[in-house]
Amino acid sequence: MKAVRAKITALGMYVPERRVTNDELSKLVDTSDEWIRARTGIAERRIVSDSQANSDLSIKAIKNAFQARELRPEEIDLIIVATVTPDMMFPSTACIIQDKIGAKNAWGFDLLGACSGFLYAIATGAQFVQTGAYKRVLVIGTDVMSSILNFEDRTTCVLFGDGAGAVLLEPSQEDDTGIIDFILHSDGSGGKFLYMPAGGSLHPASHETVDKKMHYVHQDGRNVFKFAVKLMTEVSLEILQRNGYTTEDVTLYIPHQANLRIIQSSVERLKLRPEQVVINIDRYANTTAATIPVGLAEAYHQGRMKKGDLMLLVSFGAGFTWGSLLLRWGDLG
Ligand code: UT7
Repeated sequence: MKAVRAKITALGMYVPERRVTNDELSKLVDTSDEWIRARTGIAERRIVSDSQANSDLSIKAIKNAFQARELRPEEIDLIIVATVTPDMMFPSTACIIQDKIGAKNAWGFDLLGACSGFLYAIATGAQFVQTGAYKRVLVIGTDVMSSILNFEDRTTCVLFGDGAGAVLLEPSQEDDTGIIDFILHSDGSGGKFLYMPAGGSLHPASHETVDKKMHYVHQDGRNVFKFAVKLMTEVSLEILQRNGYTTEDVTLYIPHQANLRIIQSSVERLKLRPEQVVINIDRYANTTAATIPVGLAEAYHQGRMKKGDLMLLVSFGAGFTWGSLLLRWGDLG
């Protein structure tokens, strides 16, 4: 018997209304629109309003996904939320979302894979569908990076934004559509290059940790950059080769959006054409776990995907974590 594939049958996104331009940030730190655009490709990012938390963004992304889909929340079996910025340490944002949307038959959990969180989560969710355990798994990639940014540190605060993307996984009714394969990696020795030191059990919140600004993102950008280009390219080629494809076969390459120069370097090495590549870092900056599902949802809404198309999703981020996922697009449910 052929194994069942998990397929995306609904997808949506949400970014907060509030746009923050590079010029606005140059009033807070010693930077410029010119530097940010040239070194990162970012022109603006979206930032939450005071009352918006991670779950609020996620719920809007879920609602966007279900606009074209008649589905009752009770029909959802499992909710997986990939994030590094949950509403709070516990309960999980998955539980908060489950309650807010009324998915009373679902259980759920948060998954911390940083910028690779969405790929980790969709690969995990797919297992429950492929084994036949569940019929409907909601996978969300969502982050409110502005909640952990030091707006006095020009090396990090210009890079990130807030956003959420959501997909529904269901069993594919056709042989060849759905998730084909994934490759996921971690290398914890890279942890020192990108992390948030305090707030966990190692450095619980205290006056000292706050004074030392340990609840913010800390990054050695140059080292992260170097590994990102190399490993995103390698893991893309690896998944294509082991499934008998080349980059020519790929309709859309949807990479994590951390820096336009990282994306361009991988695109050059993979010899992809511009029309094969999804880029939105200019408008949203790096939304961590949300970049890939937001890219997917935007590409879909822009009519860039049709049945039978091959999609290559690739990520790299804190951990280090990285990976790739190959799927064949089908009709939405
Ligand atoms: O999604 C998670 C994974 N994260 C990433 O993939 C991020 C990877 N890294 C990067 O994207 C880049 O390394 C950055 C965008 C973070 C930095 O770009 P860079 O070209 O690697 O710059 P740099 O760190 O080598 O810094 C060059 C100069 C430095 O000044 P000096 O030492 O040469 O005088 C920085 O202090 O640019 C300075 N600089 C800035 N200047 C103006 C750093 N940030 C800024 C800024 N505005 N915002």
